[in-house]
Amino acid sequence: KTVSTYANEPFTDFNLEVNQKSLQAAISKVKSELGREYPLHIGAEKVVTEAKITSINPGNVDEIIGYVSKADQVLAEKAMNVALETFELWKKVPARERAEYLLKAAALMRERKHEFSALMILESGKNYVEADVDTAEAIDFIEFYAREMIRLSEINETQPLVRIPGENNRISYIPLGVGVVIPPWNFPLAICVGMTTAAVVSGNTVLLKPASTTPVIAHKFIALMEEVGLPAGVINFIPGSGAEVGDYLTTHPKTRFISFTGSKEVGLRINRLAADTAPGQIWIKRVVAEMGGKDGIVVDETADLDAAAAAIVASAFGFQGQKCSAGSRAIIVESVYEEVVAKVVALTGKLQSGLPELNFAAGPVIDKASYERILDYIEIGKQEGTLLAGGSKAEGNGYYLQPTVFGDVSGKARLMQEEIFGPVLAIAKAKDWQEAIAMYNDTEFGLTGSYFSADEQRIAEALDTVRCGNLYINRKCTGALVGVHPFGGFNMSGTDSKAGGYDYLLLFTQAKLTSRKV
Ligand code: NAD
Ligand code: ALA
Repeated sequence: KTVSTYANEPFTDFNLEVNQKSLQAAISKVKSELGREYPLHIGAEKVVTEAKITSINPGNVDEIIGYVSKADQVLAEKAMNVALETFELWKKVPARERAEYLLKAAALMRERKHEFSALMILESGKNYVEADVDTAEAIDFIEFYAREMIRLSEINETQPLVRIPGENNRISYIPLGVGVVIPPWNFPLAICVGMTTAAVVSGNTVLLKPASTTPVIAHKFIALMEEVGLPAGVINFIPGSGAEVGDYLTTHPKTRFISFTGSKEVGLRINRLAADTAPGQIWIKRVVAEMGGKDGIVVDETADLDAAAAAIVASAFGFQGQKCSAGSRAIIVESVYEEVVAKVVALTGKLQSGLPELNFAAGPVIDKASYERILDYIEIGKQEGTLLAGGSKAEGNGYYLQPTVFGDVSGKARLMQEEIFGPVLAIAKAKDWQEAIAMYNDTEFGLTGSYFSADEQRIAEALDTVRCGNLYINRKCTGALVGVHPFGGFNMSGTDSKAGGYDYLLLFTQAKLTSRKV
């Protein structure tokens, strides 16, 4: 059976009232289902624990999204054993058959697209477009990795090894074993789904520990995989404390790989703990760690300044700056600095703050800890630069902050070096485009960046010298599309695993060469 060519899931046009109405209907439906309890999934067993994670709406903190059972080390161990047993069966399921489960899941998620988006709006504080894009990306990851597994399984036919007389040689990409999948909350569907489906379509079984602020949307994905008939035990759902369950599984001798996306601090901890070998461990654990960013936009004097300002604002404040790809820095050449800053401040002033379900441009940040951390950074910003917009809390029964802009920030300032992960933009001035690029590169991170210029020679040099995993020219630095812009960063931004790219599944497989004398 042939599978159609991959194509990205189209985004919903919310300028059309009919689309707004159907998303609003989905929000009403999801609201009628709030406050339910969600169990762990360990094999076929649904485990309800006394301890619960309470998931709330960050835009209306009195609204409870759901109560999610919480694994401890004993349950994590149980899940590990089930995953180990299931691996012995799942690894024998042909690649195409594994891919079929994913294709069914993608079709079903597409049918219920607005329901997934609606839940994210309520649980993570995304507005309509941000939630819709997240759901579309989740569908894309499933479709893309299903096809990638089929491609890898047929590679001896499509890209045969060099032939020599007297031998029949083949290469196959076989699974690794049991993996621990640890996604972040900021793309609570797309990244959770992408990391999990890539691992399982490759023939592994997994223990999925979702982020503690967004476990209900992760459960909705688990329920979908169950509905399409994915055998029990392939994905085991074990929400729990990162420190307790995470450390336990990271150091477990039977863990074969850890697929992590999140902060630099946690990623480095996982990398360090996983490097040690526990008694009984017979492999080097593989760690895929995609981490933070201090992404930025460089603008020179030849650029389309309106387009640059619009991109700076979209990159800095989309989903309140809570994207690994968020453009939290802008570096502008001095001859156009004042003009670009004025445009950025004017556009920022138009971002109205309010409830995500009412589709305000600016919504809440994810939780109290983030809210307080970002407020601290705003105070630091007041020492390090000139406050040009925002600078304080915003109205609402949740974690609302004003989109905030600081100007005249120096390249070495904390605001230009540290990931804030909130709606705070730092702008710096450079004497010329070369200095601007040097300032962009002066960071330990290297995830996304943009260069705005109309000068072909400079662009050619920027393509070579701007150091990041995803470099964009004359466009915003957020919004990578699966298959189009494989995503991952350099240096402290992680292992550059390129999610949504042709190399990704190789991270969850090992290549076995078989050579037969004929
Ligand atoms: P985080 O590091 O706080 O948490 C990520 C996950 O790790 C969560 O599921 C958390 O429960 C878990 N965790 C915490 N401690 C753990 C431990 N000791 N062992 C194992 N797991 C543990 O990050 P976050 O706040 O969820 O997400 C935001 C961060 O993620 C930002 O730094 C952002 O840049 C980054 N991010 C990176 C990418 C990328 O592709 N590079 C994509 C999205 C987000
Ligand atoms: N796909 C997301 C972006 O590029 C991570 O913003």
